[in-house]
Amino acid sequence: MESVFESFGLSFVISNPREQDNPIVYASENFYKTTGYSPKDVINRNCRFLQGKDTSRQSVCEIRDAIREERATSTCLLNYRKNGTPFWNAFHLEPVKDIHGMTEFYIGVQVDVTEMFKSAVGEAAVTECSKDVCSRAQLLADEVKKYADKLHENARGSVAVADSVPSPLLSGLSTINHAFCLTDPSIPGNPMVYCSPGFLRMTGYSSSELIGKPIPNAAGIVTASLTAQL
Ligand SMILES: Cc1cc2nc3c(=O)[nH]c(=O)nc-3n(C[C@H](O)[C@H](O)[C@H](O)COP(=O)(O)O)c2cc1C
Repeated sequence: MESVFESFGLSFVISNPREQDNPIVYASENFYKTTGYSPKDVINRNCRFLQGKDTSRQSVCEIRDAIREERATSTCLLNYRKNGTPFWNAFHLEPVKDIHGMTEFYIGVQVDVTEMFKSAVGEAAVTECSKDVCSRAQLLADEVKKYADKLHENARGSVAVADSVPSPLLSGLSTINHAFCLTDPSIPGNPMVYCSPGFLRMTGYSSSELIGKPIPNAAGIVTASLTAQL
């Protein structure tokens, strides 16, 4: 997932709300460039370290409410680089849901609009976020969301997979070229819950013929159980 977003050259972070205090689990190269922080400063920390004395409490509350309600939001707020210099961040937050509709990650996109503000209103007048800038940030974040959705769809379309397979595992598995499948021994009959693209090619079966069924009797198929993988 990271590499698709990375290719946009965007500043963004991904956080894991299932961990205590929703820490950052990934940050793009451009996030490090924009903020001046290093991976050591960033990974496993909540992103509030970018805030400082003139950050609008109202914007922070809007982000906090959006996270509590597991919805997207956009706001423009003053953040600070590692060296203490402030920058205007046209920020967009997007929850990424798993196949059960539960929020699995948050993606936060930062657009440094300081220069835009300066040219629009002059050095001294950089105090408020303009609506225009925030709507541009929103458009950009909408694009990111579209790519995330497409990626998820592609991963599901190229393999046979049951709803019980977690999506990070799915993204990793779908890049493996070998023919193999996973079964779930916790379900009566130990049915298949995942079949790789190679498995579908080799057996000639379609996804709907396989998922939820026992493994067809074919030689050379590598199998593993889902519980062993997790
Ligand atoms: C993925 C993600 C990215 C975030 N990026 C920023 C950011 O760039 N700048 C910022 O001020 N806050 C950012 N936040 C918001 C803070 O991490 C935090 O959620 C916010 O300060 C509200 O929580 P608090 O009141 O507990 O601090 C981000 C949050 C998430 C989940």
